[in-house]
Amino acid sequence: MSVASRAYTEQDVEDFFDKTLHNYLSFWDTDGVLHTGYFADGNADDYHAAAAHTSAVLAAEAMIDSSSHVLDVGSGCGNFLMYLAGHFDCSGEGLDLSEQRVRFAMARLAGEKSLRITFRHGSATQMPYQASTFTHVVSQDSLCLVPDKPRSHAEIMRVLVPGGIFAFTDFLQPKKQVSERARKHVYDRVRWNGGYSFIGYQEALDSRGFEIMVARNLSGHLRQTYRVLGKTAEERAESVPDLTARNWMLAFADSCREMQVAIDDEEFGWGIFVARKRTRA
Ligand SMILES: C[S@@+](CC[C@H](N)C(=O)[O-])C[C@H]1O[C@@H](n2cnc3c(N)ncnc32)[C@H](O)[C@@H]1O
Repeated sequence: MSVASRAYTEQDVEDFFDKTLHNYLSFWDTDGVLHTGYFADGNADDYHAAAAHTSAVLAAEAMIDSSSHVLDVGSGCGNFLMYLAGHFDCSGEGLDLSEQRVRFAMARLAGEKSLRITFRHGSATQMPYQASTFTHVVSQDSLCLVPDKPRSHAEIMRVLVPGGIFAFTDFLQPKKQVSERARKHVYDRVRWNGGYSFIGYQEALDSRGFEIMVARNLSGHLRQTYRVLGKTAEERAESVPDLTARNWMLAFADSCREMQVAIDDEEFGWGIFVARKRTRA
């Protein structure tokens, strides 16, 4: 069985992330954080601490400081870039396909006037920036959703300065062929056509002119994230008066169980990568 029964377009992805903003805000994270947690240990239950830890690890690996000009691709509700600007005093831009999420990010930014950042609606495959604009391109759990990945890699390469750093986390598709069950519950759920394996990702980046500096397969943390979020959704559903909201949370809790099965079956994974734009091919 092939990965996806249909090919999702950028429009499908945009519609999904526009429509689900408020559902996710209602129980996942009220500030709109929507990425995998990097847990302190195998039994930790604090998703918010783990999600913040992911951002801290990625910032450290990318070596961001006050001289950095950073692009966050798939910036969602703006949390990672706001964290970077707040902690390291860097400047930057966030780019996201979901207009609803960009609006949410801009509304949050309005209360943070000292930060040297902004957010824009747009796609990773057609970036509204000049060549060699950014010292860093970062991204959390977003690039897997781009249907035309070579094009987004070419755009990232274009907007980075020579020697610039590309640091990101992303979902992995460890096997070329995935089961119907994983396709339905994992891939189709977020309008994901499929992605790279851990090794395949490194090969793809290398072939496009990036030198790999860090690559870690962290799929166990993805499993932990869905275990904790599923439990939260189930508990929250019990006290939600609105029937539609309750059913959405219970369906999400079911999805979280399926995600864990897919990770155990090596049909779904997660990793962190840091690469440098080669100064010459
Ligand atoms: C799982 S969310 C992660 C959001 C954010 N990085 C975070 O950590 O909270 C994925 C995000 O990628 C965005 N996205 C998907 N495809 C994109 C594309 N082609 N260009 C820009 N953003 C995209 C979605 O709109 C969504 O906000």
